[in-house]
Amino acid sequence: MRKQIVAGNWKMNTTPEQGIELVKEIMKNIGHACTSVNYIVCPPYTHLSEVAKITCGTAIQVGAQNCAEEAKGAYTGEVSAEMIASLGVHYVILGHSERRQYYGETSATLNKRMRQAYANGLVPIYCVGETLEERESGKLWDVVKAQIEEVIFELTADEFRHAIIAYEPVWAIGTGKVASADQAQEMHAFIRKTLAVKFKDAATQTPILYGGSVKPDNAKEIFAKEDVDGGLIGGASLKAEDFMGIGKGFN
Ligand code: 13P
Repeated sequence: MRKQIVAGNWKMNTTPEQGIELVKEIMKNIGHACTSVNYIVCPPYTHLSEVAKITCGTAIQVGAQNCAEEAKGAYTGEVSAEMIASLGVHYVILGHSERRQYYGETSATLNKRMRQAYANGLVPIYCVGETLEERESGKLWDVVKAQIEEVIFELTADEFRHAIIAYEPVWAIGTGKVASADQAQEMHAFIRKTLAVKFKDAATQTPILYGGSVKPDNAKEIFAKEDVDGGLIGGASLKAEDFMGIGKGFN
């Protein structure tokens, strides 16, 4: 039985005050929610500390949206994995398409971030996904396979056991254009098969989340698919009611 996960990627949204209000609202609702679902919130760096403190000992866990490639030193503006882990944060999103697209992150830089994450005990939520052009030209399988092989295949078997993968087709992020449940399942099965080439049976236990315009009204159909273990949620994670509503998609 794989973990069921609903993770909220707040991106560059909310002030610390708004973020704390949001997480308090989520906490109020969680008592009534399905307990088998693991909820993770990923606020901006500025309120990671406060959100980690408030949620400590609750069913909500906290993740960062990135971490630096290097351990420490003269890297103005960067935040290290050690700093993040020291706040009681357990997860880190790596390889989000917005980071790849706008900040030039590549497999080479992501491998360095992965090393930092594991060295500091952070669990990576590693994102993969194709653009619309790549889907339409039939390159989607090669693109996702390379994103997995170039980064996840660099992990040891022991490290891999902790990793979470998120499939986020770029064309479905923030566009309201959700992948159909069948399209998600097809890619998730492909990802699991790809992972199994190196990690064999361990791949059957890896949580693979779907991300891209997940909302309370489409979560159930997507989460019902065999290889979909939850969601990485952007826009809808900014409203406690919608975020928790997505968790109900497992019922
Ligand atoms: P949306 O849910 O807003 O489409 O964003 C998905 C995402 O990028 C989560 O990381």
